[in-house]
Amino acid sequence: MGVSDGHAWWEDAVVYEVYPRSFADSDGDGVGDLNGLRGRLPYLADLGVDAIWLTPFYPSPLADGGYDVSDYCAVDPLLGTLADFDALVKEAAASGIRVIVDIVPNHCSAEHPLFQAALASSPGSPERDRFIFREGRGQDGSLPPSNWPSSFGGAAWTRVPDGQWYLHMFDTTQPDWNWDNPAIPALFADVIRFWLDRGVAGLRVDVASAMFKDPELPDNPPGQHPLAPSGYRHRAELQALYRSWRQILDSYPAGEFPGQRTAIGEVWYDVPGTLAPYLQPGGLPQLFNFQLMLVPWEAGPLRRAVDAAQDLAGGSRAPWVIGNHDVPRPATRYALGLAHQYESTLPRGPIDTDDARAGARRARAAALLQLALPGSAYIYQGEELGLPEVIDIPDEARQDPVFRRTGGRRLGRDGCRVPLPWRAGPSGPSWLPQPPDWGRYSVETESAEPESILILYRTALRVRREHPALGRGGAMRWLESPPDSLIFSREPGFVFAANLGQTAIPLPPHSGILLSSGPVTDGSLPPDTAVWLARG
Ligand code: NOJ
Repeated sequence: MGVSDGHAWWEDAVVYEVYPRSFADSDGDGVGDLNGLRGRLPYLADLGVDAIWLTPFYPSPLADGGYDVSDYCAVDPLLGTLADFDALVKEAAASGIRVIVDIVPNHCSAEHPLFQAALASSPGSPERDRFIFREGRGQDGSLPPSNWPSSFGGAAWTRVPDGQWYLHMFDTTQPDWNWDNPAIPALFADVIRFWLDRGVAGLRVDVASAMFKDPELPDNPPGQHPLAPSGYRHRAELQALYRSWRQILDSYPAGEFPGQRTAIGEVWYDVPGTLAPYLQPGGLPQLFNFQLMLVPWEAGPLRRAVDAAQDLAGGSRAPWVIGNHDVPRPATRYALGLAHQYESTLPRGPIDTDDARAGARRARAAALLQLALPGSAYIYQGEELGLPEVIDIPDEARQDPVFRRTGGRRLGRDGCRVPLPWRAGPSGPSWLPQPPDWGRYSVETESAEPESILILYRTALRVRREHPALGRGGAMRWLESPPDSLIFSREPGFVFAANLGQTAIPLPPHSGILLSSGPVTDGSLPPDTAVWLARG
């Protein structure tokens, strides 16, 4: 449970990402809420997860799905109350499930009282110094202070009536904090303690790469990769900050539930080597490893992606991820042969039925790959149901600022945020419309189908808990494999094989089949199928 056996729980945890507004709705207003989540804890316990990570549920104007926070120490009334949150933590603990909350330290909402105070104050005031306000360039200051782009499209600067500009690496409504002002680290240390004191097991750190800015605001050189080190990304000052956060985490007793407190940084990168400074001892316990999302469903790129993550992070500090609330759903990526790229675009029209079927098979196989790799794994809600990306949301229903800020050039992330289907029948209206045929992916339908992806996930998590080679078990070793396949072993006695090609391949030597993502007969592994094998 704690670190008494020399290991921390998070090294091999399976964590389930909850996007609260789209998980479960307890009051029928079309928006998921904390009490809906409480009511579904038995579902998550049955699934067999060790922890849940909640994306922001704090008061917010919802310009960016809650990543525009106007009060860091409260619950948005749309989602519940602090008492509901406390009850959630307590009830989850009763099922052995830990709770991780999202900390959003790069920016707040423009409605945050401190930004409102900054707007109401004059240039050069202490209030403005909590954010990054600057004079513009050009003779009349009408040009932004630097050429920095917003990650959501357009410029990262907005001008206020007195002529100054403020920095926002995301939407205009998300002003960046000035982390060089000592008041800001102090504010966030308090926020972190506030949630840890309420019993949370850890933090997911939003945009963990971008808080510090070079005060000189150097322009990006032309053609620079948007995720490369720059005047606002991967700056050295971050590491001292994370060491101070680690001290806060480690000041909580590790000996009893929820065990050692963790923090997992969201750091997107140009090349995996950019992550190295973050992995120094004493900093953030974990960083997401996005490698599996950055490549298509092809053996060579996947194998290199796994190797790159392993070389860098030694497995346990690099949780495997195949999707999240920012990325097109795996079933659809695999149907279309897409990797998630920074500027990825999706078709809006229907996907060919055969491609969709192949995508669904590959999503099952990818789940077995993800869950067989050494270390921990994050599952985004709905992956266990095999949900596809909803690509045909009408423009007027889209909510993601990315869609608006790019004039529709990037569809944005609404398609992976559509509320989960729980019942086989039609569901009521929701904040993002659910496709009419989603009952077939519902928990009710899939729970009753022995071959469903939901049952596959439940079984995989059970086998993973029970098998000593999985999770924190032995290192992985690639075995000789036919073209377009991935085969590796882990000790004791486990072999993983996946066929990413067009024709069946022989199963590697084994003494039994533990689990397969699709039918396996006559000792051969069909295309788009993965298998967990015992080796006697
Ligand atoms: C990363 C979050 O995952 C994403 O949803 C959000 O829009 C940006 N950070 C900005 O907070």
